[in-house]
Amino acid sequence: MASPGRFVSFEGIDGAGKSSHIDALAVWLRARDHEVVVTREPGGTELAERLRELVLHSPMDALTESLLVFAGRRDHLQQRIEPALARGATVLCDRFTDATYAYQGGGRGFDAQVLATLEAWVQQGRQPDLTLWFDLPAATAAERRAAARAPDRFERLDLAFFERVREGYARRFDADRRRFARLDAAQPRDAVWQQIEAAALERAWW
Ligand code: TMP
Repeated sequence: MASPGRFVSFEGIDGAGKSSHIDALAVWLRARDHEVVVTREPGGTELAERLRELVLHSPMDALTESLLVFAGRRDHLQQRIEPALARGATVLCDRFTDATYAYQGGGRGFDAQVLATLEAWVQQGRQPDLTLWFDLPAATAAERRAAARAPDRFERLDLAFFERVREGYARRFDADRRRFARLDAAQPRDAVWQQIEAAALERAWW
């Protein structure tokens, strides 16, 4: 879908270390005079943040989870992402639809065809222009999470779940390598940043 702005999503299993790099890329882009909108999923609007609370903290089946995530995504696209892209801003989004394929599809084993239908209804062809995938073995991510924070409903799940999530991301990567940059997130923070900067410069949008 053509629009003057650029849409960048950040993906990876919990504990892959993407959050601090989102802020760093925002600083990098603003230094080049870009308007930057930093947002996240689930969430990004008042309604979608309320849905996020339900998704992260209330037990539910995988279809309900998928419907809530896509309901929030619809509102987020309409209220925030599309207007920002239309005025030429760069949108940096902490997770987007690849996370639904990875977590609901891969982790929970939910039907990818149903997800594809919801994706088509909700996104009307909108996809990120670039997806930075922070790839990390599930065991390494688990060690980092244990050191860092109290877990939400997903973060309490076992290693096998996160291995399936990682495989879910790998399938998305294999299906659309042009959109993705796969980052070795096991490296030290500075080395990961260098990979991000290289991926951004390669696109030559800014
Ligand atoms: P966060 O901690 O990175 O903000 O992500 C919140 C959790 O939500 C994370 O464990 C991944 C999960 N999630 C899904 O299960 N499906 C989705 O579509 C998205 C965007 C996130």
